[in-house]
Amino acid sequence: MSVVRQTGSVVRPGEKTVQIPDAADAKLVFIGTIHTPWTDRAMCPRQGRHDGPDCRIEVFEPWAPALSGLGAYDTIEVLYWLDRSRRDLVTQNPKGDGQNYYGTFALRSPQRPNPIGTSLVRLVGISGNILTVRGLDCLDGTPLIDLKPDRCAFSPKAPDKPEALL
Ligand SMILES: C[S@@+](CC[C@H](N)C(=O)[O-])C[C@H]1O[C@@H](n2cnc3c(N)ncnc32)[C@H](O)[C@@H]1O
Repeated sequence: MSVVRQTGSVVRPGEKTVQIPDAADAKLVFIGTIHTPWTDRAMCPRQGRHDGPDCRIEVFEPWAPALSGLGAYDTIEVLYWLDRSRRDLVTQNPKGDGQNYYGTFALRSPQRPNPIGTSLVRLVGISGNILTVRGLDCLDGTPLIDLKPDRCAFSPKAPDKPEALL
């Protein structure tokens, strides 16, 4: 088993890491880049706010036609790849106080085996392949994985499923 090279944050005293295998099974396609004002983690909000600054999501070709219809939603879900994260932490001490430790899955920390970030953002506008949104919390240049309408505002476009499957 080879070991994934870790980047980004330091391990705090008492935090626990494990050896992890190469992540070669799920092959993601980055469909765009997120442009934000933040180039340093210390400047980046922990969770985005709808009254935060405008951020731009650039959707790469050939995916621009996939934005058709998205403009009907005030709120959309953005999934992104927290590319500067460690991926080997199983317990974390977010405050660095040497006292309060939590399992990675009990946190929304960017340090996780598959560093997927999600935010429900306010959609300000779409112009061609560029979306303007508010409510992000990621570093400038973070890769975009997916965009979806807010599930609360979304009505399925497919036929109803048989009750037995619900
Ligand atoms: C706590 S995470 C929350 C992400 C998302 N809202 C969620 O809950 O899934 C946000 C933090 O991740 C860090 N971060 C942002 N962009 C990152 C990136 N590209 N790689 C690694 N860490 C990042 C910053 O410290 C930021 O404050």
